[in-house]
Amino acid sequence: NLPKKATIIEVGPRDGLQNEKNFVPTDVKKEFILRLKQSGVKEMELTSFVSPKWVPQMQDAGEIVDACMTMDSRDIVLAPNKRGIERVYETGCRSVAVFVGVSDSFNQKNINKTSEEAMKGLAPLIAELKEKGYFVRACISTAFYCPYEGKILPEATLSLCQEFVSFGVDELSVADTVGRANPSEAYHLFALLKKELPGTLLTAHFHDTRKMALANILASLEAGIDRFDTSAGGLGGCPFAPGATGNVATEDVVYMLEEMGVSTGVDLEKLALAIDVVKPHISRPVESGYYRLYELN
Ligand code: HMG
Ligand code: MG
Repeated sequence: NLPKKATIIEVGPRDGLQNEKNFVPTDVKKEFILRLKQSGVKEMELTSFVSPKWVPQMQDAGEIVDACMTMDSRDIVLAPNKRGIERVYETGCRSVAVFVGVSDSFNQKNINKTSEEAMKGLAPLIAELKEKGYFVRACISTAFYCPYEGKILPEATLSLCQEFVSFGVDELSVADTVGRANPSEAYHLFALLKKELPGTLLTAHFHDTRKMALANILASLEAGIDRFDTSAGGLGGCPFAPGATGNVATEDVVYMLEEMGVSTGVDLEKLALAIDVVKPHISRPVESGYYRLYELN
């Protein structure tokens, strides 16, 4: 009962790179994004307008957006607060992702606010973005587990998602920030969200810390989800979630889906060329199954 098509939301240029200690040159990021687009990716997080003191890697956000935005794809930027959204307004970007975790301990480390404080600040900002016609995505961190608080109840995640829906967001990207969910939990939460939030785009965002991400994607597909955040090369992780590794690798997800007859529109060979560009600049090895075989050949 799988869908015919699924959408890949490439988060490598943002989630993939934000955790890299050494600054990846802006021109390398631009070429990475260009090649990702050439591979057929139609939705992508380009960068984030966060505090450069907190995340120095994203300090070139304005330049990245100016150079990389194109009309034929949904180019998304992250913004945590009013200052971030003001910076977005100075660019041509039309799609914004805000982010809040279900867990307060995580929020304190990531955005220096509780969930309630963050939501209070975001409500008028999202209303304004919607009035101006922006596409708004809300990223829900620690939707399954928190690195500080442990298990998060599905009801708590549902409740934060419902609050965002009441603010008018277009999409919810629901994240296993530390890569600790198992397929039963993935199925259960996404089936619940699908049932309770029928009018909102639902996207699954899995990190591959415990190598559960592909299994979790299959379980989410079975729960009716057809949108997945993935990162080319499996790069990345959140700097404020200790132990979290990269997102599930785009190439492994594309391979799995295409082999199962679920079309993604992404060309694997061209995707490998995108990873080639960024690989010499990152500190972690690229360990995805698809890319390892590509390098051997
Ligand atoms: P703060 O220090 O509490 O901010 O940080 P503040 O409001 O007190 O402002 C302090 C200074 O920062 C001021 O400058 C502001 O102007 C400036 P000063 O007056 O001292 O010169 N400032 C900014 N500058 C640029 N852009 C901004 C901005 N905001 C304030 N947007 C803040 C609060 C939210 C800014 C900070 O905590 C922050 O930037 N956090 C971002 C952390 C981050 O990027 N995390 C990774 C993304 S989330 C993620 O990866 C999870 C996800 O992948 C899903 C998953 O897997 O879970 C999405
Ligand atoms: Mg993430």
